[in-house]
Amino acid sequence: MKALYPGSFDPITNGHVDVIKRVTKLFDQVIIAVLSNLDKNEFIPLKDRMKLIKESLKGIKNISVESFSGLTVKYAKLKHADLIVRGLRAASDFEYELEMSQINYFMSKGIDTLFIMTSPKYSFIRSSRVKEVASLGGDVKELVPAPVYRYLCQKRL
Ligand code: PNS
Repeated sequence: MKALYPGSFDPITNGHVDVIKRVTKLFDQVIIAVLSNLDKNEFIPLKDRMKLIKESLKGIKNISVESFSGLTVKYAKLKHADLIVRGLRAASDFEYELEMSQINYFMSKGIDTLFIMTSPKYSFIRSSRVKEVASLGGDVKELVPAPVYRYLCQKRL
């Protein structure tokens, strides 16, 4: 079975890595689908976001890191993915994710979304907080994989 794990990954966090590691044990192949068109809101350019994902997941064999634009379900169909995977951190994620999974199911006429609960120790980590903390000079070392931390330090982001 092949799963598609879509996201902005701007940047990838320890929470994403936790979800990906667990998902790779459940499926033969996991496509990490990185949304390319974040427009003006992009913190890290697509090329770097993808490089950082690859570096952070070194050693995991059954993944591919790919970029996409447009609808997630279109990309899932193109890649013959059996389902979409998303992580749920807390109840606050639920409504947004519920709606997205339902519209995706409706549009694709049958692609399901499987939710994995983020480990409690990562449940407060979201990319937007990492961006905010890093850009205001806070320490995000414990929140992101080492390659991302090095990148943020080098770029002084
Ligand atoms: O990591 P994120 O930002 O929470 O990921 C959100 C993402 C990329 C999964 C979502 O915005 C998405 O699927 N965007 C592509 C457009 C799309 O298919 N939207 C949902 C139905 S309109």
